[in-house]
Amino acid sequence: MAPFPYTFIDRVLITQKQIETRVAELGAKISQDYQDSTHLLLLGLLRGSVVFITDLMRQIHLPLTMDFMSISSYAGSQSSGFIRIDSDHKTNISGWDVILIDDIVDTGFTIYTVRKLLTDRQPHSLRICALLDKPDRHRVDIPIDYLGFSIPDEFVVGYGLDIDEKGRNLPYIAAVNLERYRQG
Ligand code: IMP
Ligand code: MG
Repeated sequence: MAPFPYTFIDRVLITQKQIETRVAELGAKISQDYQDSTHLLLLGLLRGSVVFITDLMRQIHLPLTMDFMSISSYAGSQSSGFIRIDSDHKTNISGWDVILIDDIVDTGFTIYTVRKLLTDRQPHSLRICALLDKPDRHRVDIPIDYLGFSIPDEFVVGYGLDIDEKGRNLPYIAAVNLERYRQG
């Protein structure tokens, strides 16, 4: 059997076990920080955050609800520098403790823009949670309150992250060989 189900995978950056451990730690921290909250909402950005949010929510031992927004920001591996709301969240977040959850912070434009938009909707509080961060790529300054891992400037797939919709099903985070990807 081939080592990876996609030929464009270069190597594993973060193992399934490492992710599991870190997600449990984040869940424990959030459980502690929000123990007095009566309206905790995990708000995920589709589709990249789906695997992360479903694992994370099961490590948070508090009453909570989950909602999603769908945002377009990328074609392939290049930042387009703007985002579009394809589908908005259903919850009226006024008065809620919102944790905005995304798979990865790259330039930061997505989180920066969504955060501004959500702030206008007057949540009781708003924090940012991301599985991955590429600090070398930031173009705007954003605080990440709950971060899984910092990674180098490489394109990655797995655990919900994709390249042109491929690779989301991998249980680990893997670096993509972009040259091999372009060759098909
Ligand atoms: P930003 O607006 O530049 O921070 O981009 C964030 C979004 O770009 C993420 O939610 C991902 O959908 C996508 N993205 C950025 N880097 C990667 C990557 O290495 N792999 C997969 N998706 C990525
Ligand atoms: Mg995304």
